[in-house]
Amino acid sequence: MVKDRLIRFIVLVAVGLVLGGFIALAQIYAGKGDAPGNGVGSGFSSLPMAGVQVGGPFTLVDQTGRTVTEKDFSGFKLIYFGFTFCPSVCPTELQKITLAMDALGKAGDSVQPIFITIDPERDTVPVMREYVKLFHPRLTGLTGSREQIDAAIGAYRVYAAKVQEEGMSDYTMDHSSFIYLMSPDDRLLAIYKTQDKADDMAKDIAARIKSES
Ligand code: NI
Repeated sequence: MVKDRLIRFIVLVAVGLVLGGFIALAQIYAGKGDAPGNGVGSGFSSLPMAGVQVGGPFTLVDQTGRTVTEKDFSGFKLIYFGFTFCPSVCPTELQKITLAMDALGKAGDSVQPIFITIDPERDTVPVMREYVKLFHPRLTGLTGSREQIDAAIGAYRVYAAKVQEEGMSDYTMDHSSFIYLMSPDDRLLAIYKTQDKADDMAKDIAARIKSES
């Protein structure tokens, strides 16, 4: 229907504006590499995010079928949004989280790695259960109803859109790719980008855990 398409277009434009603003902000932050609160030395691109409202309450379902909220995770949270059918970026980023957790060693005990799907229609509880096994043994996979997922996507300002390519039976998803480090009281501490390396990420996380304690 034309009206549906129009609404979808308006939503896409709105999402695009929000994302564009976010990227611009990220670039501003990246520009001042030695801003206070940046845990590690120059050349590293994690973003100090003081004062930026990202994250918030969520109610989702973990890979065992249990309903959980942000309050069920008492320590630091390392959160990534993606989908299990993603051919390259999502597995690469989840592998990076796994390597960073390994590099953190004992210091990583207070960090909960979390993968939240943006594609709950296909990423059901059993699909998530099988998928998280491929990565860090403590990785939690969260799915939920479309409404629950949309609320989490909104809170973390994630860009996610279904893409149906002509001649393909399955759809794919366009999405932003950031790893969020949240404090135990759910404040955003850092955002890591696809170009950040696992070792640098681990060092930055360790520094931020230390400065929070
Ligand atoms: Ni992906």
